[in-house]
Amino acid sequence: MKGIATVILAAGKGKRMRSKKAKVLHHIAGRPILFYPLEVAMRLSGAIVVVVGHQADSVKELLERNAKIKIVFQDQLLGTGDAVKRTKDALADFDGDILILNGDLPLIRVMTIRDVIRAHRQKGSPVTLVTAIMENPAGYGRISRDRNNRLIKIIEETDASEQEKGIREINAGIYLFRKDILFWALGRIGSDNRQGEYYLTDIIGVISGKGEEINTVSVSDPEEVTGINTRADLARSESIMRRRIADLHMQNGVTIIDPANTSIDHEVKIGIDSIIYPYSRIEGRSSIGEDCIIGPHVRIRDTLIGKGVEIKDASVITGSRIEPGAVIGPFAHIRPGSLIKKGAKIGNFVEVKNSRIGTGSKANHLSYLGDAKIGNEVNIGAGTITCNYDGTKKYETTIGDGVFVGSDTQFIAPVKIGKGSFIGAGSTITEDVPPGSLALSRAQQVNKKGWVKKKRCVE
Ligand code: UD1
Ligand code: CA
Repeated sequence: MKGIATVILAAGKGKRMRSKKAKVLHHIAGRPILFYPLEVAMRLSGAIVVVVGHQADSVKELLERNAKIKIVFQDQLLGTGDAVKRTKDALADFDGDILILNGDLPLIRVMTIRDVIRAHRQKGSPVTLVTAIMENPAGYGRISRDRNNRLIKIIEETDASEQEKGIREINAGIYLFRKDILFWALGRIGSDNRQGEYYLTDIIGVISGKGEEINTVSVSDPEEVTGINTRADLARSESIMRRRIADLHMQNGVTIIDPANTSIDHEVKIGIDSIIYPYSRIEGRSSIGEDCIIGPHVRIRDTLIGKGVEIKDASVITGSRIEPGAVIGPFAHIRPGSLIKKGAKIGNFVEVKNSRIGTGSKANHLSYLGDAKIGNEVNIGAGTITCNYDGTKKYETTIGDGVFVGSDTQFIAPVKIGKGSFIGAGSTITEDVPPGSLALSRAQQVNKKGWVKKKRCVE
């Protein structure tokens, strides 16, 4: 929307989180809390100012890729009022309405803020404050109104009397101000309160005291303005966000058997008619094609999965690509840098790392395939191991198309197996095998007749 600049307050430490990490860096549905209000700001305003302070460098790292964002440093955390005051220079060239968002509001929706801006403009008032009626208002600033229902001030919880604590209308931490009145009022607040802070919320009292009307918009769904102060808030918001994401996928034609016990990160894409079984987590920048069957108990991270893939129980897949029709698991571990080609099968207790498994190839049981290039239609027998590490360096194993690898084979890399070869079960392969050959390295079997009887002196 035109003529809106957004200020996001993200300097606080988040004391109540009891964390080494700044509050806005904690994740909800796989991305930092700060990204949520930031996304709203990106959609609705031309200029964005983010106030950073505690762990400023880490917070800045999240933001630096965007030219629309200005960063303001609050060196001493003197309160939300002080934080906004410091944006004055960054907003010097801006003329219009300023939207202020607390940085710890991950559940707020763009649509809601758009409605708030519309209401603000319709009223033509200098200030619009977003409020909500909370079942349990603990932790929030309370809205104090006079007999005519006119908003007089906001009372912070720490400064509220028992009676005031009973007020259920709360300040959501979302404000719209005409720029001139905002900075005028910020010059008139003190820090004479229980926390010794400059409260942004005190400017509401200042402005209403001047006789200006404070316009309020009450959100219909108070869940949306849940602020994150504690780990319990974090967990609650995570489950609300998770539910929203699941709803969206279900609307788009994905079956999620048990949404409450399925976790899909914000940026994940899933094709229609895929089925996600319970206790599965799909994380990071993963994408799943149509007609896939995932889970139960599967974890997929930063992985691209093609159409019609089946990922069976308790498999873990990270940073890889799985092509259409492949079947993975149960109990498979696909580690970063792997490419599982069309229709390939990776079975139980098989670990694949940084390897390519060709079209239609199979490694069905108990194997380690690391730094391997495996061709098409290869059969990897149970217990095959690529010995890729000599204690210092990693080496590659290359296996040509159509090779049959017998069970319990070790490939001592670097080693190359030519097309169509056979590797006898139980072999330790240390040298390259030419195409079409049988390689066998186990010792000849010896049978000693009557040995048991003699040795044990038994009849
Ligand atoms: C604030 C409001 C409260 C409201 C609630 C809504 C104030 C004084 N109180 O309380 O009325 O109901 O949000 O969730 O504003 N921050 C800074 N610099 C600072 C202090 C805080 O940038 O010096 C940032 C924090 O990083 C956070 C935001 O401001 O993102 C809000 O601070 P927080 O301490 O969470 O305020 P609340 O106590 O929740
Ligand atoms: Ca808060």
